[in-house]
Amino acid sequence: MRNIILCGFMGCGKSTVGRELASLTHRLFVDMDEEIVSEAGMTIPALFEQYGEAEFRRRERDVCAQLAQRQGLVIAAGGGALTFEDNVKVLSQSGDVVLLDVPLEVILRRLRGDTGRPLLAGPDREQAARELYDRRLPLYRAAAAHIVDADVPADTVARRIAEKLALMDLKN
Ligand code: S3P
Repeated sequence: MRNIILCGFMGCGKSTVGRELASLTHRLFVDMDEEIVSEAGMTIPALFEQYGEAEFRRRERDVCAQLAQRQGLVIAAGGGALTFEDNVKVLSQSGDVVLLDVPLEVILRRLRGDTGRPLLAGPDREQAARELYDRRLPLYRAAAAHIVDADVPADTVARRIAEKLALMDLKN
C-alpha cells in the first residue's frame, strides 16, 4: 500500500489533516517533525539553535529515507522537506505527495504567536514567511501529484484527499 505524503508551508495543517486522514482511511499517521524530535531528544528550536539548520536538514533527510521504506502511512512532511530534490524523489517513489494549498494571508494568521518555527523567529516574521512562501510554492507544486484547497476545516480537507485518491467509499 502506497504512502500518502502531505506537503505544504508551515501552518497549512499537515499534521491536523494527517491525523484526520489516517483515522478516516485506517492508516498509521507519522509526523516527520515528531520523528526528528524523538530521535534527537530535543525540540526543533533547540536543534536549530545547538546544531544549526544544516544538521536539522541532515536528520530530516534520514527520516525521509526511513519513512520511504515503510508502507501504508499517512506522513505529515516538515514544511521544508519537499523543497529538496532527493527527499522528493524517495518519498514520491513510496507514495502520493499531496499539497495542502492555503493562501499566505491565512497562514500568517494561523502562525501568529507561534514560537516553534525557528525559520520565522527573526524580527520581521511576516517578511520572512512571505519570502519563503514565494520561493517554495513552485517547489511544492512541482513535488505534488495532487493539490487540494486546504483553507477549510481539517476534516473536510481529509475527506477531499481520501476522495481524490479514491481511498474510501464515497457514499459513506
Ligand atoms: C520547517 C517547517 C517545520 C519544521 C522546521 C522547518 C520549514 O515543520 O520542520 O521548523 O523549513 O518549513 P512544519 O511545516 O510542520 O511547521
